[in-house]
This record gives sequence, C-alpha cells and structure tokens, in this order.
Amino acid sequence: MPNAFHYSIGRKLIQAVSGAFLVLFLLLHGTINFFSVIDSFKGTFGSVADDEKLFSAGDGLFKLGCDFMSTTFIDIMVPILALGLLIHIIYGIIISVKNIKACGGLKRYEAQSVAAADSWAAKNMFVLGIVILGILFFHLAHFWAKMQLPEMFGVGNFENNPYLLLTATFGKWWMLVIYLIWFAAIWLHLCHGFWSMFQTVGWNNQIWFKRLKVIGVIVATLIVLLFVSTAVNAFIQANFIA
Ligand code: HEM
Repeated sequence: MPNAFHYSIGRKLIQAVSGAFLVLFLLLHGTINFFSVIDSFKGTFGSVADDEKLFSAGDGLFKLGCDFMSTTFIDIMVPILALGLLIHIIYGIIISVKNIKACGGLKRYEAQSVAAADSWAAKNMFVLGIVILGILFFHLAHFWAKMQLPEMFGVGNFENNPYLLLTATFGKWWMLVIYLIWFAAIWLHLCHGFWSMFQTVGWNNQIWFKRLKVIGVIVATLIVLLFVSTAVNAFIQANFIA
C-alpha cells in the first residue's frame, strides 16, 4: 500500500476528529442560544438581575447560559476551541488542494474511483468553509467582542445584557438574512461533513452507511434549527414585541 494513502487517511482523520469537536461546540452553543426562545415563552426574555452577579436568581435562562460561558471551564475551552478550528481550517485547505491536484494530475485512477461527486463535494466544502469563516468574524464582532473579549482581555466595553445584543443584531432584517445565509452554509457543510467523517472512520458498510447519513442530516438540521429559531425569535422580539 503506498504511503500517500496512509497520509491521506491520517489527514482526513484529523479533519474528522476536529470536525466532531466543533460539532459538540455547536450543539452546546446552539442549546444555550435556544434558551432565549424558551425565555420568550416563559416571559423572561430580557430578564437580567441588577446585581450583575453570575447565576443570579433574577436572570433569564439565556443570561444564565451566557454566565456559564464566563466560567473558568469555558476560559480553558476557548483556546482549545480556537486551536480545533485552526486545525480544521488548515487541514481543510490541505485536503482540498490535494483533491484538486489528484483529479487533474497523475493519480487519475484514484480520482476516478471516488467519482466526480466527491471532487465536487470537496470543492464545495472549501467554498462553504470560506463563507462560514468569513461570517464567523462578523458574528464574533457582534457578540464575542462585547462579552468574552472585554471579560477575558479587558478590551472594549462589556455588555452585561445579552438580550440587548440579540435584539440589536437580529432586529435588522438584512442582518437576519446574512445570518440565515450563514446557517444554510453551515447546514450544507455539516451534512457533507458527517458523511465524510463516517467514511473516514470506516463506518461505510452498505446498510449502516445510509442510516448514518440520515442521522448526520438529522443532527445537522437540529443544530441549524437551534440557531435559526434563536435568530428569528430575536427578530420578532425586536420588531413586534415590547
Ligand atoms: C443565533 C445564532 C447565534 C447566536 C445568538 C450566538 C451568540 C453568541 C454569543 C452570545 C457569544 C458570546 C458568548 C459569551 O461570551 O458568553 C458567541 C460567541 C461565539 N460564537 Fe456564536 N452565536 C450564534 C451562532 C454561532 C454559530 C453558527 C457559530 C459557528 C459557526 C458561532 C460561533 C461562535 C464562536 C466561535 C464564539 C466565541 C467562542 C465562545 O464564546 O464560545 N456562533 N456567540
């Protein structure tokens, strides 16, 4: 077996493991954000206690979730998350470049065996990755720069009321549209990412591969729905309620 095969699997494994880690982050992040939707139903959207203490009794669920994001555990996790994202981006670029080279280059036999669909998906993953990363910076400027950045590094002004950040961001229809485009790109990226991850770790027997593919689409949809409902709810709260 040529070494290149092993290297390629190694690269994809790193991509799969870092991707799985990012998925866990998205599940946690999406769940905490979804607390703001539950707050709306409970009538606690916007509830922030005056005492400015963490986990105050008067805080709404979403505020409590954001307080959890201020704990030492998260302070330790943030650099690990950034590292995971960086590894995922670097290996994503390497895999995409190798794939493109393999399809037109000397490795025609290998390229044929994975078929045109795979090279299309690989190209797509790269473009989707760029869209996701680009809008991520935009997103960090809206939220992270007003919460964790002042808290962790003392840079900028800290906003203690995260509900205000929600309504300020999603209150504008065009901002909502940009975010919805972002969520759509994340959904496509995750759907293919799961498929690719299962193949990489060898879970590709005929019956289970199809089932795992469906499970991947369900998890991707669940994650994206958490974000979509948060954003749409904040748009409604900002424009039609209060
Ligand atoms: C409705 C959608 C979203 C809302 C309301 C939202 C809200 C927030 C908030 C409030 C923070 C600051 C957390 C804190 O300091 O307490 C944050 C940070 C962050 N968000 Fe989002 N987010 C959304 C979607 C996303 C998505 C889809 C991604 C990834 C693709 C993402 C990635 C991040 C990252 C990497 C951070 C910085 C690390 C961290 O604070 O954990 N967010 N977001």
